Amino acid sequence: MKQFVAAFGAEPEGVWAAPGRVNLIGEHTDYNDGFVLPFALPHRTVVGASRLDSPRWTVWSEQADERISFDLSTRVTGWGAYVAGVVWVLREAGFDVPGAQLAITSDVPLGAGLSSSAALESAVLTALVDLGGLDLPVDERPALAQKAENEYAGMPCGIMDQSASIRCRAGHALFLDCRSLDVEHIPFDVATDGLAVLVIDTRAPHRHVTGEYGKRRATCEEAARLLGVPALRDATPSSVSSLSDDVIRRRARHVVTEDQRVLDTVELLRSGRIREIGPLMTSSHASMRDDFEITVPEVDTAVEAALAAGAYGARMTGGGFGGCVLALVDADAAPVVADAVAAAYRAKGFTPPESFSAIPSAGATRL
Ligand code: GLA
Repeated sequence: MKQFVAAFGAEPEGVWAAPGRVNLIGEHTDYNDGFVLPFALPHRTVVGASRLDSPRWTVWSEQADERISFDLSTRVTGWGAYVAGVVWVLREAGFDVPGAQLAITSDVPLGAGLSSSAALESAVLTALVDLGGLDLPVDERPALAQKAENEYAGMPCGIMDQSASIRCRAGHALFLDCRSLDVEHIPFDVATDGLAVLVIDTRAPHRHVTGEYGKRRATCEEAARLLGVPALRDATPSSVSSLSDDVIRRRARHVVTEDQRVLDTVELLRSGRIREIGPLMTSSHASMRDDFEITVPEVDTAVEAALAAGAYGARMTGGGFGGCVLALVDADAAPVVADAVAAAYRAKGFTPPESFSAIPSAGATRL
């Protein structure tokens, strides 16, 4: 790996990679013990690593163009927190993590809501587990990567992104029950159906992401408490309608209806009716816009323009307040839809969007 050779003057012992993701449907359901349906992107973070004899980690990041070094007493901030957080969480879990040199490069777009941080955590975790020969089953890894992000990097995320980065399979979407952590790999080969999932990076500046995300999460927990259930996973549309506070009721309604949309999407995909998931995607978007209130004008404009240009369905993907929109389109119509969104952006004076067709790809692996 050339980045490792440039940073440390030798080939690494091994090279590992973990992808970014998009979520087909199921937004803000993960931390409510609900259902999600992400798939991994071909874009990934690659880590070359070699062991050191002492508990010390030296990390070179090509994108940050920076080398950091830490030991067990260092409190790391910035991008390095996603590396140091993984070392910390593995040690917390009782593993003897080897000291290491690591070189990192990535083509997961940063700050676009495609889980570049989960890709980094998952790649580093996979590398350190293999390097140290640690006995950590794959299905237990996402929870540790999530804990690193929650407690070390300070972002109160759910378990979806790390699960997608670690557990996805090529050609499939990952149907994850965020309570049991059971997964089902749902075949999602849009190309053979003449379809494409267009990812439109709205390039909208992320506004107050962590703060608003934390507020949504707290409101959902409050709603579950008021309803006397462990999590909104256990609420129903009719129990939610009894909530007297308008904001709390709408937030909860989003989660409960979104869980149902994930289940309905999975049913359709199981019977090969891919085009029919379009309306579910679009109603998911309306729910995020009107009930959960996490969209921004750039995102709504992209969805409206994609639908007007013939998309079967379109929705924002990820945590919200910017990021990417997914549109399910006929493969040969993808350029037309991308152009229509770009034209709508020009008319409104927004920063030009960037689009690509997403191919469901594999999760974390040793290369
Ligand atoms: C972010 C979080 C995830 C999930 C989504 C919203 O991506 O990291 O855990 O909550 O937002 O679905």
